[in-house]
Amino acid sequence: MNKRILLGVCGGIAAYKAAELVRLLRKQGFEVRVVMTAAARQFVTPLTFQALSGHAVHSELLDADQEQAMSHIHLARWADLLLIAPATADMLAKMAHGLADDLLSTLYLAAECPVFAAPAMNQAMWGKAVTQDNVARLRQHGVTLIGPAAGEQACGEQGLGRMVEPADVCRQLQVEQRPGILDGVNVVISAGPTREPLDPVRYITNRSSGKMGYALAEAAVSAGANVVLVSGPVSLPPPAGAELVQVETTLQMYDAVIAHSRAADIYIGAAAVADYRPQTVAERKIKKDRDIGNIVLTKNPDIIAEVARLQPKPLVVGFAAETDDLENYARHKLQAKNLDMIAANWVGQAEGGFESDRNALQVFWPGGLQILAMTDKHTLAAQLLNLIAEKLHEKNPVKSS
Ligand code: C5P
Repeated sequence: MNKRILLGVCGGIAAYKAAELVRLLRKQGFEVRVVMTAAARQFVTPLTFQALSGHAVHSELLDADQEQAMSHIHLARWADLLLIAPATADMLAKMAHGLADDLLSTLYLAAECPVFAAPAMNQAMWGKAVTQDNVARLRQHGVTLIGPAAGEQACGEQGLGRMVEPADVCRQLQVEQRPGILDGVNVVISAGPTREPLDPVRYITNRSSGKMGYALAEAAVSAGANVVLVSGPVSLPPPAGAELVQVETTLQMYDAVIAHSRAADIYIGAAAVADYRPQTVAERKIKKDRDIGNIVLTKNPDIIAEVARLQPKPLVVGFAAETDDLENYARHKLQAKNLDMIAANWVGQAEGGFESDRNALQVFWPGGLQILAMTDKHTLAAQLLNLIAEKLHEKNPVKSS
């Protein structure tokens, strides 16, 4: 368990949020030491952070007094985790290029512990190609980005660039530290593609690898849940500790999911279900010299919508893979299928999506939104489960506490 957090505060209006962050982190049992850049001191006084953290604030790279108490290398070694929040465009640029001209950038270079950064800046600065290049580089170097979030900015503009709220930053830091959040909770997860046969050797399918659903099953087992994983055909090892139900067609998946969801507290529909199946399946292989003409398709049941009709209804979480207008489509599906939460991601982009090991999600629920930044699917699964566990707790405080 990480106990010691070194918090780097950069100079931006969101620096005030870092004060609340220190308070929340300490409440959760972390020891926090704060490093401020010169610009951060223009926004919030070091005294605020000293009072909240219970330790003197570090600011100068070459300060004889502070070096005696704790050198910058000593400080870097002390930390179990380095969190930079808010992280300005300037600091991200310095980190991406190995510049070390102040205490915080030097600490980043010296740090050997996991590094998290919560960017905060104007939406145009965040969207600028050079910032995006720097961020991509930092991800390659192992930095975990938390956010940014979308919404109204201090400058009055709208867009991506707000620092993620302190409580959400805490939640994302604690991914690996909440092993019992789903103790005894029954979770059904669907994963992978479905196969719709045309004849004994041919079928219609899609590009789902099942990685996200399998990662969710593993994370749910680690969180203490009883997990049933209903899986279409994938080439992944069965997740230890989960009951695996293997299916091929949508109708088989439907039967298995409905049967298990009657006793479920949570249903997560991560499968890429075929919306249509061939109306007739040839008993023998269709010969190529025979003109088969058109393939007539018939609609498959919408599994998740049917789970959402069960009484009692489990907490129902869907996925939406979109190539455009992500938020509108996701929110529409949330409502149309009567889901409690939907995790949406872009497909057809350079990184993330179906066959990738990495993904980013925008998670929507009635009245809320949380962005989970691009990361490996295992980390993402744990972050999503934390959100799901919170929703379950809101819905049913006894079962999930
Ligand atoms: O409508 P769309 O297919 O984009 O919705 C995606 C969500 O609905 C996913 O959670 C998927 O597992 C679920 N779904 C389903 N049954 C279908 C189609 C989609 O459960 N026939």
